[in-house]
Amino acid sequence: MIIINEVKVMKAHVRMIKSKKQTIALVPTMGYLHEGHVSLMHKARNLADHLIISIFVNPIQFGVGEDLDKYPRDLEHDKKLAAQARVECIFHPTPEQMYPAGYATSVDVEGITSGLCGASRPTHFRGVATVCAKLFNIIEPDVAVFGEKDFQQLAVIRRMVEDLNLNVQIVPHHTVREEDGLAMSSRNAYLSPEERTHATVLYRSLQHARELYKAGQKDARTVREAAVALIRSAPGAVIDYVEIVDPVTLQPLGTIVPGAVMALAVKFGRTRLIDNMVIAG
Ligand code: PAJ
Repeated sequence: MIIINEVKVMKAHVRMIKSKKQTIALVPTMGYLHEGHVSLMHKARNLADHLIISIFVNPIQFGVGEDLDKYPRDLEHDKKLAAQARVECIFHPTPEQMYPAGYATSVDVEGITSGLCGASRPTHFRGVATVCAKLFNIIEPDVAVFGEKDFQQLAVIRRMVEDLNLNVQIVPHHTVREEDGLAMSSRNAYLSPEERTHATVLYRSLQHARELYKAGQKDARTVREAAVALIRSAPGAVIDYVEIVDPVTLQPLGTIVPGAVMALAVKFGRTRLIDNMVIAG
């Protein structure tokens, strides 16, 4: 496994792979890898000849006052997990490599970025779309695997690829959870033991919503309110949003239709967690 820190070295490596007519799968990450990331890598491993991951804590997707400075990092551990997943190359650039002096361009995906996480993190998806567009141009992957855990991010990347006619196939991967249902996340490391226990309410609220739908409740407002009440019963939970949306347009639904997704963001102390689930169909 090789580690590349410079854009021009990465591009030369990609040229070498392409000259052998080999295909590339990419898993973009911000590091501090966990089993969720590893699961994406296993999927990607089977989709192309060559598996590349990126590890880059992308400064432009963090808003003012967010956790950029304290975002957890452990490159040595990341290298071990990546090697076990048979990753051939880690692209690990510095911020200066990705955004050199004079950098001035960004990718804005409109519409679907205004609600859900975009409402409280107005510059976040511009940062995500921009870095992913750059990674796709540098690494030229045939496929890139993204987790459904970041449901809105996946929708934004798909929209961007479609709109800009990018030559990459986006492959989704299911959310990997802890045994008690909490979605794995690098940010779970911030939770105190009490917060960690209370955070299981998120998965339970999603399951509860799904059960209500299964039992015949199609009114989005009723189901949403039941989930909100359950989340509020957990000590310390502060809701950012709980919404039932169309999976493609991300517009809130009045009536729950097959494919509908309940998406939520809830803070425990200073830690903001997101999760989602298809509750219908
Ligand atoms: P990061 O949070 O490190 O996540 C990298 C990838 O792993 C994303 O596609 C995310 O959806 C996926 N992932 C995270 N937790 C998961 C889980 N529990 N189950 C399944 N997949 C999971 O998302 C980012 O980084 C960044 O925004 C990035 C796309 C790299 C752009 O900077």
